[in-house]
Amino acid sequence: MTVAVRRLEAADDRTKFQSGNIDLDRFFHRYAGQNQFRHHIGTTYVAVADDREIVGFATVAASELTTARLSEAKRKRLPAYPIPVLRLARLAVDNRKQGQGIALVLMRAVFTLARKMAGDLGCCGVVVDAKPEAVGFYEKFGFIPLEAASGQLGDRPEPLPMFLELGAIPKPDVD
Ligand SMILES: CC(C)(COP(=O)(O)OP(=O)(O)OC[C@H]1O[C@@H](n2cnc3c(N)ncnc32)[C@H](O)[C@@H]1OP(=O)(O)O)[C@@H](O)C(=O)NCCC(=O)NCCS
Repeated sequence: MTVAVRRLEAADDRTKFQSGNIDLDRFFHRYAGQNQFRHHIGTTYVAVADDREIVGFATVAASELTTARLSEAKRKRLPAYPIPVLRLARLAVDNRKQGQGIALVLMRAVFTLARKMAGDLGCCGVVVDAKPEAVGFYEKFGFIPLEAASGQLGDRPEPLPMFLELGAIPKPDVD
């Protein structure tokens, strides 16, 4: 199976995709297109197997992060105003194709976008709200939990906000 990542196109058939997560599937079937083509609030990248079947997607958007969410050491090196980041808003792989490295291919594409965004308009890293069952997946790439937002209760939030700073993104030739 060869897997290529490209931007979602309006003509793509999204109806057959199923990750098993109802919310993510509903988003992909109903909202990914209008969010991208009509509202411009996020862009979805699809993993296409053998040039025909959509087997995964990642939705990203430009976002910002208040430095108060970073560790003290990092915060000290940065200005006090919000910093630009790339948000990985959604990620899913078709449940018939999971465990075959497709999410890895999508994550490489997301990292390429973050590097491009850094050069084109500024980007300090990638943020994601990780579902509890996916925290281990993001840790593999070096994502670390963000500090709780001010006003948040002490309980561990679900999902868990995580961050991977630009300098810690795995390099294309070694990841
Ligand atoms: C999480 C998900 C995207 C992973 O997709 P996938 O294509 O099966 O993942 P890959 O095969 O590319 O796995 C890449 C690596 O991550 C690991 N991995 C995959 N899922 C993992 C998980 N839930 N926890 C920890 N590690 C995980 C794999 O073992 C693999 O490690 P390796 O390279 O050392 O072998 C997929 O299981 C999915 O769509 N789940 C439902 C939706 C979801 O939870 N999305 C995340 C929302 S925050």
